[in-house]
Amino acid sequence: MKMLEIFEGARAAQYDKAIPHWIPAYHEFHAFIATHLRQHFSTADPLAILIAGCGTGREIQEVNLSPHWQITAFDPSVEMIRQAVEQYSNQPNLQLVHGTVAAIEKEDFDIATLMLVLHFLSDDGAKLDLLTNMGRRLKAGGQLLLVDIYHSDDFDAQLMQLQDRLQGHFDPDWIQQGIRHIKNDIFYITEARLTQLISEAGFSSIESFKKSYFYGGWIISK
Ligand SMILES: C[S@@+](CC[C@H](N)C(=O)[O-])C[C@H]1O[C@@H](n2cnc3c(N)ncnc32)[C@H](O)[C@@H]1O
Repeated sequence: MKMLEIFEGARAAQYDKAIPHWIPAYHEFHAFIATHLRQHFSTADPLAILIAGCGTGREIQEVNLSPHWQITAFDPSVEMIRQAVEQYSNQPNLQLVHGTVAAIEKEDFDIATLMLVLHFLSDDGAKLDLLTNMGRRLKAGGQLLLVDIYHSDDFDAQLMQLQDRLQGHFDPDWIQQGIRHIKNDIFYITEARLTQLISEAGFSSIESFKKSYFYGGWIISK
């Protein structure tokens, strides 16, 4: 069972620079978080937000919309969370935790994010375990904003398109290494399987908010 994907070395150091090339809509997926929060919550009222697998902290920019909102962000990779600490630890309404979801005791978050994490976990109980644990930490009616690689019939064609987009701009070996990684190391699942998993994890509904290549974004309600 694969329950963790540790980012370290060059992968961690170059993450912020590399990731928008591999996920062309990376910033749009993240910007949706702020749009969604502004639409549904008042910045005058308290709100508790959990960011799972925050990495270098990109989501923190999107959720830090009010001093009344309390943000908790965790990540198990020391070299990733160190970058988040360097950039954001001066924010008084933010708690940064090095660890997994098990390190989070609070169980009444209003909203949580799980961006680009779940696809690294195997679908033999590990994905379900993380989803169940995220659900447990949300209050009734709370929402999980998920972005993940998913599998569809045109997955291979989309992967080819991404490869074509990168070709000519970057080192061919670097591109091939990334394509192999997406093909071989990711535990991607279909939307139907994701729907089944979120139901088993105790959530009540799932709604897609964006798709780009083989990346999808969903609002999952408890
Ligand atoms: C691709 S990065 C995504 C970082 C950030 N969410 C973003 O959107 O840029 C994946 C992150 O998930 C973290 N991670 C790996 N396994 C995890 C787990 N089981 N629970 C939470 N985070 C995990 C890694 O340490 C890494 O920082």
